[in-house]
Amino acid sequence: MPHSVLIGFAVLVICHTSQAGYTKFPDGFTFGVATAAHQIEGAWNVSGKSENVWDRLSHTRPEMIADGTNGDIACDSYNRYREDVEELAYMGVDFYRFSFSWARILPSGRVDFVNPDGIRYYHDLLDALAEKNIEPLVTLFHWDLPQTLQDLGGWANPKMVDYFRDYADLCFKEFGGKIKSWIAFNEPYEICEDAYGDEKKAPAIDSHGVGNYLCSDTLLKAHAEAYHLYNETYRPTQNGRIMISINSIWYEPSDTNNAEQVTLAEVANQFKFGWFAHPIFTEEGGYPSVMVENVAQQSAAEGLPKSRLEQFDQYWIDRIKGTSDFLGINHYTTHLITGARCGP
Ligand SMILES: *[C@@H]1O[C@H](CO)[C@@H](O)[C@H](O)[C@H]1NC(C)=O
Ligand SMILES: *[C@@H]1O[C@H](CO)[C@@H](O)[C@H](O)[C@H]1NC(C)=O
Repeated sequence: MPHSVLIGFAVLVICHTSQAGYTKFPDGFTFGVATAAHQIEGAWNVSGKSENVWDRLSHTRPEMIADGTNGDIACDSYNRYREDVEELAYMGVDFYRFSFSWARILPSGRVDFVNPDGIRYYHDLLDALAEKNIEPLVTLFHWDLPQTLQDLGGWANPKMVDYFRDYADLCFKEFGGKIKSWIAFNEPYEICEDAYGDEKKAPAIDSHGVGNYLCSDTLLKAHAEAYHLYNETYRPTQNGRIMISINSIWYEPSDTNNAEQVTLAEVANQFKFGWFAHPIFTEEGGYPSVMVENVAQQSAAEGLPKSRLEQFDQYWIDRIKGTSDFLGINHYTTHLITGARCGP
């Protein structure tokens, strides 16, 4: 079992300088690479898999994607996973992070019918990794919601808490003997902001300031339910861990003596990172207060009777708090704040 896991592709946090002046990684530091199901599997309409929101978007609105590409074939990893695992072994990675395609395992999105080919595929992949001693790190949800569930509102539908829990339950039961590290959600900000609050990502709902907050309400509850299910029912026998992977563009003041910039950087970090990290990783729980106040003020200024950001009640604040064994961070870019105004 590795001592620390680095998630994401970007930059390193821990290194130290050796006597010779070289920097090196601490002993036990592990390296891996990562993919997402829709990014690599292809085989979008065969072996029982149903359509997901990215299939729908890329087929019906190809202009939304710069070069019109879709995931119909992608890297064809559904058919060529053995070669992919060979490549991983050749690279010498310690772990491989990949995601399950919900629509491949449960074509309706619900547990009414389990697709045997989907189950077989992931067992085969996990077995191939085990043969090469590569540890799997599995993401349950990496953006590719079954279209059937999107038709019912997707992450804006509170019922999704149950659907996600049921899907997670099936995955823990079926695959938990082979997986010690789970990530329930990858990059919730991208899911809620870009796909519900905007139209940058599928399903491109573009409900700015409303859909994004409905999504985070449901997603954080679904995350907590999956965590508690694992913690109580599966961890005692499977001995694994379960976490969330949060992405953040990070903001720094360009002038650390400029109080306004320092404040703006903090507000921006709370809106991006704190939105999902604060409810899970702080003692206080719930959304960051600066976010709650800011959206409430903005909503009042718009003449709305209540804030667009619905807060969790005490039950959910407590239920969500502490529901991650590790924090996964995906980091891509840091911005320097020079004084621009940001708002919800
Ligand atoms: C699956 O999709 C491909 C396009 O990627 C299409 O050519 C083929 O007819 C579809 N197959 C089925 C069974 O619908
Ligand atoms: C996980 O389960 C353990 C053992 O029952 C319990 O002590 C702990 O509080 C649970 N974690 C959370 C976040 O509920």
